[in-house]
Amino acid sequence: VIESVKAREVFDSRGNPTVEADVTLTNGTVGRASVPSGASTGELEATELRDGGKRLMGKGVSKAVNNVNTEINDALKGVSPFNQAEIDQIMIDLDGTPNKARLGANAILGVSMATARAAANDLGTPLYRYLGGINIELPQTFHNVINGGAHADNGIDFQEFMITPIKKENFRDGIEKIADTYHTLKKVLEEAGFQTGLGDEGGFAPDMKSTDEAVSMLYKAIEQAGYVPGEDIGIALDAASSEFYNQETGIYTFEGHEFNADQLRDYYVNDLLKKYPAIISIEDPFSENDWDNFAKFTEEVGDRVQLVGDDIFVTNPSIFRKGIKKGVANSILIKLNQIGTVTESVEAIRLAKKNGYTTMISHRSGETEDTFVADFAVAVSGGELKTGAMARSERVAKYNQLLRIEEELDGQAHVAKFPHNVDFD
Ligand code: PGA
Ligand code: ZN
Repeated sequence: VIESVKAREVFDSRGNPTVEADVTLTNGTVGRASVPSGASTGELEATELRDGGKRLMGKGVSKAVNNVNTEINDALKGVSPFNQAEIDQIMIDLDGTPNKARLGANAILGVSMATARAAANDLGTPLYRYLGGINIELPQTFHNVINGGAHADNGIDFQEFMITPIKKENFRDGIEKIADTYHTLKKVLEEAGFQTGLGDEGGFAPDMKSTDEAVSMLYKAIEQAGYVPGEDIGIALDAASSEFYNQETGIYTFEGHEFNADQLRDYYVNDLLKKYPAIISIEDPFSENDWDNFAKFTEEVGDRVQLVGDDIFVTNPSIFRKGIKKGVANSILIKLNQIGTVTESVEAIRLAKKNGYTTMISHRSGETEDTFVADFAVAVSGGELKTGAMARSERVAKYNQLLRIEEELDGQAHVAKFPHNVDFD
């Protein structure tokens, strides 16, 4: 059983404090996990408890840490770590608010993940098997190689320009193709006179003006690396459009345009999807406060492009249920800290699978060296995983973990094919 739960303040990839939790069992086994943090957060995400005040720009998490060390520790002492749903429910009840505002989703998630690790360690089972293990499938990976929006100080308003290996012999082969393309992209950008400093997720952050320019650079890089755009390597975007939407006026302001929803839809269809058929997935094309237009767009193009709901669903099963009813998106982004427990994240994934939505498991722009999300993606047969470019160790750590898992499975692992479970033609 659990002997103690203890947390501490550590730092994430942006130098901001975050929660790391240790769960220790009575036999001495320990599980440890740390919590990521987003920059373009959805309004309805579970509460990330921060101290405020002067220390560390108000971003300290000492209150969350203290909640783990006192109340959560008291509640979990003596409880078996092997029933993850029960552990998570105890913390949800103890918190008592709908969005984990009292104890903090960062406190709760840290303990939720650390408990799963402690249980897996105690059984001598890899985490990806402990949390799943029936259908071992490695995810198709999405790599954010040009960073814009809230993740970089450049003129690009769309947040993420990702590449994904469509044709691959195995997981490693896919990663190698992405590494090739990433390095080629650096050359392509240099030759075009752009700077190649990195953004928060390891992608380049060139001072470009437009989405069009960024996508055309990706085409060039894919081709120069020896691959065919759309056949070998696909392109996926995260517009993160809530960041440039004005709810009062219904206007999307980006790259010098002031678009209403119809104009934005027209832009996606004619300037992006028709011009660049390698684009196979768009995340948050419409704002978290623009459900009707997101649904309309899904109806219009959802049979030929994956449309991922991130800010609009915030990995919250009850919000997601409403989205499914309304026909919003055909895929859901899964971020554990948006909802705050492992169990509720799994519930959102189950809901997706039942309703024909694909799932893309995701890191946050602020990450730690913890590779939980990699094991998690395998455990739940998530199908898709985005966890950054082939640079910055907090990103690459996740891919390295998947390479280890593939090696351990010694030929038994298959890799998810795109699209994972939606019937596209
Ligand atoms: P975030 O970005 O972690 O800054 O929210 C990731 C995303 O929007 O998908
Ligand atoms: Zn997003």
